[in-house]
Amino acid sequence: MAIRDIIILPDKQLRLVSKPVEKVTAEVRKLADDMFETMYDAPGIGLAAIQIGVPQRLITMDLAKKEGPPNPRVFINPEILWSSEEKGSYEEGCLSIPEYYEEVERPAKVRVRFTDLDGKVHEEEAEGLFATCIQHEIDHLNGVLFVDYLSKLKRDRVMKKFMKAAKRAE
Ligand code: NI
Repeated sequence: MAIRDIIILPDKQLRLVSKPVEKVTAEVRKLADDMFETMYDAPGIGLAAIQIGVPQRLITMDLAKKEGPPNPRVFINPEILWSSEEKGSYEEGCLSIPEYYEEVERPAKVRVRFTDLDGKVHEEEAEGLFATCIQHEIDHLNGVLFVDYLSKLKRDRVMKKFMKAAKRAE
């Protein structure tokens, strides 16, 4: 396992549409291992492969409470089959947009189909934080970031901030 570098805004790779994982190979399992190590180290609760520069439709997540045992979960080729009319709102953050948090409204419940690391297909209903997190991570696979849901004013402000920071780091 290895901790990989997380790609930060405004890196253009974050706008790529990731490709489906065709087969769950040893390489895919190794990628998931690296993603967990990177995610726990950050620390974060969800990570999409593109955030470490791999444009494949793979997500790692752990929504366990700090006091509880870990609950590592992998979602391969996840698809939203259904979204509720009802909306829910959470203050979201993103490891690719560090130290920036904003309230985002999304469908409160979604039904998701995904493949696990054994190549088995599952369907599951998500609500609460799980619904928000899986939608946020699936967005990454489509090149969408949570700041895209903010007002133009707020989005321009955060983009500018990260552009400046990237320039300084050059
Ligand atoms: Ni994110």
